[in-house]
Amino acid sequence: MNELIRRALMLPPQASSVAHRIDVLHYTVIGAAFAVCFLVFALIGYFLIRFRDHEGRKPPRYKLPHLVEVVLASVTLAAFLAWWFVGFTQFEDIRTPPSNAIRIYTVAKQWMWQFVYPSGMAAEDELRVPVGQPIELLGTSRDVIHSFYVPAFRLKEDVLPGRITTLWFTAEEPGTYQILCAEYCGAGHSRMRGRVIAMQPTDYATWVQGHTSGDLASTGEHLAAQYGCLRCHTVDGTPHLGPSWKDLYGSTVPLDGGGRVIADDAYLTESMMDPTVKLVAGYPPLMPSYLGRLSGPEAAAIVEYIRSLRSTPGE
Ligand code: CUA
Repeated sequence: MNELIRRALMLPPQASSVAHRIDVLHYTVIGAAFAVCFLVFALIGYFLIRFRDHEGRKPPRYKLPHLVEVVLASVTLAAFLAWWFVGFTQFEDIRTPPSNAIRIYTVAKQWMWQFVYPSGMAAEDELRVPVGQPIELLGTSRDVIHSFYVPAFRLKEDVLPGRITTLWFTAEEPGTYQILCAEYCGAGHSRMRGRVIAMQPTDYATWVQGHTSGDLASTGEHLAAQYGCLRCHTVDGTPHLGPSWKDLYGSTVPLDGGGRVIADDAYLTESMMDPTVKLVAGYPPLMPSYLGRLSGPEAAAIVEYIRSLRSTPGE
């Protein structure tokens, strides 16, 4: 049944762990819309004949009983609430990456996708992942807004300059799936394509071994020294001109002017690119912006280094 409707609607294969559920909701909503549409057209046809104009006859007037009106309105409301509930549950699931996900960074620029793996290895327009393993994709852009879209996974997420947005998926079947850019981003937008290659875990492990060049966190450490980050940030917990990076990742940070923020990838990246927007309470606004100075993979490596400085890794 699922397969039949999928083909009828000309949808690509359901290649991620969430695709099937998203499709079922989609079918239900489309099916209901079709049913209501047919009902309305059938009634129009019936009424056209039943109440057609006769010489010397006044068209009869009908009044719907209140109870019928209430029932119709309640059924419609209940249907919409039910869809919202199912949709929202799925949305929440799609928004919450499992803690065992492999973190891969992606940087979009006109007109290509660059991927950076935990080993520090980078690839263009080709994302290799093992099947059955959750992948968390942390995306940003070098220039304009792009949108990372894998139709077969039923997933799409905008990527923005100076910010990190995340998306996660588990590929279910080995195969090659199209990556498209779903946000018009200039003359080469339609050529901004890539592919996800889902591989058997053993093949993936072999491939990673053959391409490993080091470790993203240690690349980040070198970069942090090179860009002068470590002149103001310590890594042993002592506050200096800026907050220490020790145990910073994942902690809750009090902000200047009130409020708190969780120091996640998005916040740390924002702080590199736009340091004064969410200033940590008790520190002067001394830090310069690194927007345009740090490339996407470099910012990712530094975040990965900060992440490695937690005393209790895992969260
Ligand atoms: Cu990038 Cu459209």
